[in-house]
Amino acid sequence: METFTATTPSPTIQKDFLPINGTDYVEFYVGNAKQAAHYYQTAFGFEIIAYAGLETGVRDKASYVLKQDKIRFVLTASLTNEGEIAEHVKKHGDGVKVIALWVDDAVKSYNETITRGAKSFFEPRVEKDADGEVIRAGIHTYGETVHVFVERKNYNGIFMPGYKKYNSIVKAEPVGLKFVDHMVGNVGWNEMNTWVKFYEDVMGFKNILSFDDKDISTEYSALMSKVMSGGNGRIKFPINEPAEGKKKSQVEEYLDFYKSQGVQHVAMATDNIIETVYALQSRGIEFLKVPSSYYDTVLDRVGHIDEDLLPLKELGILIDRDDEGYLLQIFSKPVEDRPTLFYEIIQRKGAQSFGKGNFKALFEAIEREQELRGTL
Ligand code: FE2
Repeated sequence: METFTATTPSPTIQKDFLPINGTDYVEFYVGNAKQAAHYYQTAFGFEIIAYAGLETGVRDKASYVLKQDKIRFVLTASLTNEGEIAEHVKKHGDGVKVIALWVDDAVKSYNETITRGAKSFFEPRVEKDADGEVIRAGIHTYGETVHVFVERKNYNGIFMPGYKKYNSIVKAEPVGLKFVDHMVGNVGWNEMNTWVKFYEDVMGFKNILSFDDKDISTEYSALMSKVMSGGNGRIKFPINEPAEGKKKSQVEEYLDFYKSQGVQHVAMATDNIIETVYALQSRGIEFLKVPSSYYDTVLDRVGHIDEDLLPLKELGILIDRDDEGYLLQIFSKPVEDRPTLFYEIIQRKGAQSFGKGNFKALFEAIEREQELRGTL
């Protein structure tokens, strides 16, 4: 049974000043949004639902909105060689720019966080069309990543004002991805506690789990991680910092290639990980593989599970257990040429943790990939 360093809840019950309903959307700045949209549609099973660009009167960028169940991704590319999007892509490659948070009151969310020290990305703005209005406001977080608060209770359109419904000639075939379970940020040396404090003080989050380099180290590399959770638990942001090891850790490799702090992985939940991962693999998504010997002893560690072990072994799905239940998870290889952002597919069966029991096998698998890239 794994043990966790849980933070004791504060005895004084404070009102949540930043209630968040969930992840509203994740926006990526990419080099070519048209092609990226096709990849997320055909490989990950998203439906392209909306579009903004030249044909809708937008002159400087193109955005595709993709949806699968509750997950919404926006892929945005610059139409010019200058400006925030072009500069972002030049520096970081394709990556996450916006983690948008669905709130009931965007102005209050902005004011509460700005009062507590957040740096403004943009002040509250009301966007309207025939389907109603959306209010948004943004603040900065680690690196060049931002949080945008989205209030959409008075909006009935496809996504938000400025976007037109997109009629794809290809019918999306979903793979069973349901919602964003958590999103992980990689921050620089000695920066983790700065960002833990940011999420605590500015956003009212709590540090619910901590892992140090003794939990997360292999022969060569190490990292530290703290999990931050919003007041109602619907938003979880683990934060990683590299730790000293004999060789370069995966977090350092990310920082070298992303050229700053940023989102390392997005974890998407499914109700049937075997079907989801089978579909993703057959459409070309590559996953990290642990040695097959992992499966010789895994049930001794995690005890009884409902699933047959054989398909889990064939697909490379990992298993872990905590006090509340177990979870099944698997990690993709990076989805860009730079070894930066990747995806996790997770099915929770009671467990609310993050797969600590798999860290060692997993990080050894990542190191084998780093070795191939010459970046260990
Ligand atoms: Fe994760």
